[in-house]
Amino acid sequence: MGELLWINGTCHSPEEAYCSCLDRGLLYGDGLFETMRVYGGTIFRLEAHLRRMAQGAQVLHIQLSLSHQELRHAVQTAVARSGLDSAYVRLMITRGVGGRPSELEAGSASVMIWVRGFGGYPEELYQQGMRTILAATRRNEHSPLARIKSLNYLDNLLAGAEARRAGADEAILLNTTGMLAEASASNLFIVNNGRLLTPAVRAGLLPGITRACVIELAATEGIDLSQEPLSLEQLTEADEAFLTNTLMEIMPLTRFAGQPIGAGYIGPLTKQMTRAYRTLVAAETSGTGFPTLHEE
Ligand SMILES: Cc1ncc(COP(=O)(O)O)c(C=O)c1O
Repeated sequence: MGELLWINGTCHSPEEAYCSCLDRGLLYGDGLFETMRVYGGTIFRLEAHLRRMAQGAQVLHIQLSLSHQELRHAVQTAVARSGLDSAYVRLMITRGVGGRPSELEAGSASVMIWVRGFGGYPEELYQQGMRTILAATRRNEHSPLARIKSLNYLDNLLAGAEARRAGADEAILLNTTGMLAEASASNLFIVNNGRLLTPAVRAGLLPGITRACVIELAATEGIDLSQEPLSLEQLTEADEAFLTNTLMEIMPLTRFAGQPIGAGYIGPLTKQMTRAYRTLVAAETSGTGFPTLHEE
């Protein structure tokens, strides 16, 4: 069938997929989403995504209309119906229609799953690495929304747009104390003297599924990793840096505000983690067709 939307149990083509104008997801951004990636027909780390969504639903007091098993089955069904081997999956839940704005018990939660073909970012980007800037927007580590993937995504989109206006690919966000939090749509890692450093979740960041994989892999690769408060200077003076998210996996971060990070190209630890991540994905899915990681 190709690209489709699964809405509350029924599959639709994108042209015929609609939801109510009164859905609280639209009225207030009152909902959550998860972005997942399909390799060789298998959804990578589906359970971790469902767990993060369940934690977000607890924070927002959204009563899911489907059990964990039903939700898992719905996502798998939508992917199977699409027939797509390599895909992007966006699972969305909203509080549904009804109730006054602060009446959180109102409405009947709605579930939507969007599946469309996705084969990865252009390989050149992995060779050059991303250029980043500092966003004017700050991450508010005191907001419950900082650590969940809510439909209120405009802080991120505005920061991403700032990056694009400045001719960069991603924007780095500080939190309200002026320490590093994350990027507009990815988590941040830096390399210092052979150690991997990343801000802790309490800095006000989304606990990324890819970030969790990197933390796991650092242990198996024997790399020292620490989650700690990081300053902007630690990024600009880092030996290497990289960004992580489900769709782009591990992306070298080679420039910040027009200046190179380290030598300004993909470093050895970034390469090692990229290789380890791709091996992990291949082991957990039947995904093939990764671009090869070119050696200098
Ligand atoms: C703000 C933000 N941080 C981090 C991430 C990375 O999360 P994950 O690795 O689960 O894709 C994302 C993903 O879109 C994001 O939007």
